[in-house]
Amino acid sequence: MKSVVIFLFTLLIVNVCIAINPINVPVEIGKDFYNIRGDWFEVIQGVKYNLRTHMSLIRLASGKFLVIDTIEMNNELKSNIDKLTNNGSLIEAVVAVHPFHTTFFKPFYAIYNRTASGRPIRYFGTPRHLRNIKDVHWDGDLTNPSIRKLWNPEVDIQIPKATEFINPQPEESNHFSGAFAFHRPSKTVHIDDTFIYAEDDGPEVALLGAKKGDLIIHPDVDNGIKQYHNAPYEFRDWVYQIIKDFQFENILTAHCGNLIGGGYKKLQQTIDNASDLFKKLADKRKN
Ligand SMILES: *[C@@H]1O[C@H](CO)[C@@H](O)[C@H](O)[C@H]1NC(C)=O
Ligand SMILES: *[C@@H]1O[C@H](CO)[C@@H](O)[C@H](O)[C@H]1NC(C)=O
Ligand SMILES: *[C@@H]1O[C@H](CO)[C@@H](O)[C@H](O)[C@H]1NC(C)=O
Repeated sequence: MKSVVIFLFTLLIVNVCIAINPINVPVEIGKDFYNIRGDWFEVIQGVKYNLRTHMSLIRLASGKFLVIDTIEMNNELKSNIDKLTNNGSLIEAVVAVHPFHTTFFKPFYAIYNRTASGRPIRYFGTPRHLRNIKDVHWDGDLTNPSIRKLWNPEVDIQIPKATEFINPQPEESNHFSGAFAFHRPSKTVHIDDTFIYAEDDGPEVALLGAKKGDLIIHPDVDNGIKQYHNAPYEFRDWVYQIIKDFQFENILTAHCGNLIGGGYKKLQQTIDNASDLFKKLADKRKN
């Protein structure tokens, strides 16, 4: 049953990925906010799929850039990032927001670790990044609230409440949680896995009960929400709180689409509509 679900999920992802933004090209989502798609290949049941992933570059009021996530490095991407950031000189810091989006930090760091004038570029990650990627000099992890607030009020970083962020187990099916990065000036939120936006349509999407334009909850939700009774409701209420606090118009998700306009209203519908799911998860955690 589980493998069937994973298989369907994979089909969903593959399908959703077809019509999205071109790879390696910065797309200006809103004022001072750029999002870049990257390839992410996985072989599942003998078939190679491109699930895609993403990164964002935020131009701060200081003129410096905050980089959220990294994607596969190559000449085209480097050249595009160099153009935006003066060959990396304008990069202030790089932040890794998702425990399992780790592969591309080492190659990114090998290029962008200090500026031409010698200023070190600061790197921040999830606890799993700090445990597993020793080639990067990390300046701290996102469980530290003062790090999450470093770029306030322009950028606010939050960890979804009552989710497994520090050491999610089992590793292969607990990818639900990741920090959200909110950029107030462009009314945009950068999310990796917690929610999936179906930018395209297809029969597999329909099989999963989703369709083009749906914003769905990641299938690892049961593992990803902590295992005490109220945790599902605490997560739900946290989502209602961020909706109220940020009223973001644009929701960018790693796999694999961007919802431009109407973001927080759509998310509100998704959460309103999942009341049975949250009750089921809470009941399961009762004993
Ligand atoms: C960036 O690097 C390129 C190639 O090395 C060079 O031609 C260009 O002048 C550099 N730009 C800046 C602003 O340093
Ligand atoms: C830092 O970046 C430079 C290129 O800008 C590179 O030559 C060097 O190897 C990098 N250092 C590390 C430790 O990756
Ligand atoms: C609400 O959930 C049902 C099934 O649980 C689904 O069929 C429907 O598409 C969902 N609607 C929205 C707006 O998410």
